[in-house]
Amino acid sequence: MIPAVDPGPRPTDLVERTPVVIGHRGASGYRPEHTLASYELAARMGADYIEPDLVITADGVLVARHEPEISRTTDVASLPHFADRRATKTVDGEVFTGWFVEDFTLSELRTLRAVEGIPHLRRNNTIYDGHYGIATLDEILALTARLTSRLGRRIGIYAEVKNPTYFAGIGLPLEQAIVRGLRDAGVDAPDGAVVVESFETAFLRTVRDELSVPITQLVESGTAPADLAAAGDPRTTADMVTPEGLADITTYADGLGPDKDLVIPCDADGKLGAPTPLVVDAHAAGLLVHVYTFRNENRFLPADLRRGDDPTNYGDVFREYAAFLAAGVDGMFTDNPDTAVAARGLLSGSPARESWMMAG
Ligand code: G3P
Ligand code: CA
Repeated sequence: MIPAVDPGPRPTDLVERTPVVIGHRGASGYRPEHTLASYELAARMGADYIEPDLVITADGVLVARHEPEISRTTDVASLPHFADRRATKTVDGEVFTGWFVEDFTLSELRTLRAVEGIPHLRRNNTIYDGHYGIATLDEILALTARLTSRLGRRIGIYAEVKNPTYFAGIGLPLEQAIVRGLRDAGVDAPDGAVVVESFETAFLRTVRDELSVPITQLVESGTAPADLAAAGDPRTTADMVTPEGLADITTYADGLGPDKDLVIPCDADGKLGAPTPLVVDAHAAGLLVHVYTFRNENRFLPADLRRGDDPTNYGDVFREYAAFLAAGVDGMFTDNPDTAVAARGLLSGSPARESWMMAG
């Protein structure tokens, strides 16, 4: 077991309590991602937040999908009347062939059905294929308001705005869409009920000037933000997680959202290694640290936490949670919110909500 480290002084919480459980794409370990059913299940499993990824339609409506290309997570490829929408495009330097959200109006998207995005790993979830549609930001806001009332505790939205540089380049800027969407819904407030996150720095700086919601800067090991790359700025994630880089992030953000490798990388054998200084450094800078992404399957776990050879089997994820909680993280994005809530209760003394199935 990795010994607990002193995570340093904790900055003012932007949420009611920590560590928070963030339902990554909802409860995507159990339902097709980014459906209202996935979000509702996450809330009922005890998640403090649900996490929609937001992209935009041809007619300027924010909808929940992980990427602009929608054939992985919908049935669009099977619909003959949309065959002529198939296209090849470059998104953030990477070439994709498929069907792109910006080529569909909202009413056209409403005719699509969501499907399990990783059926080779989550075969059982495919029983839900075809049963749910694509959700708009407005529908997600309405859902969380309803669940907050019904469950008697706040269900927050941790909204990731996807690919702002790409969408700006095709005439669909996301800044005003998210600003308008949150203002019109009356949820532009600093209380943490809504948090806005993105990998792109310029987008977040703009949103900081326009909105009062807390902001989280996402960072991914071995990459650079697409806006910096597009502008010829040589800074990468490695630069952003230095004390100097973190100090710069505090000028427009309240939290840091690193991938797990940036907090506890695997060693040369693929086993869970030792914590980096990132949590301590981020706390010293005044940033909360919300880490992504915790998933129960062996496929996503360090070699020493896997149970058996089947990549779809659940591994010893409680040891993973224990290591990250000991490292002092303030929140966890997870595909399996029930497991994260249980881990938080067992490992950090925060009460587990084992009665979630009875709530509401
Ligand atoms: O927002 C945290 C995490 O969701 C970022 O990764 O690719 O799953 O959206 P991704
Ligand atoms: Ca996300």
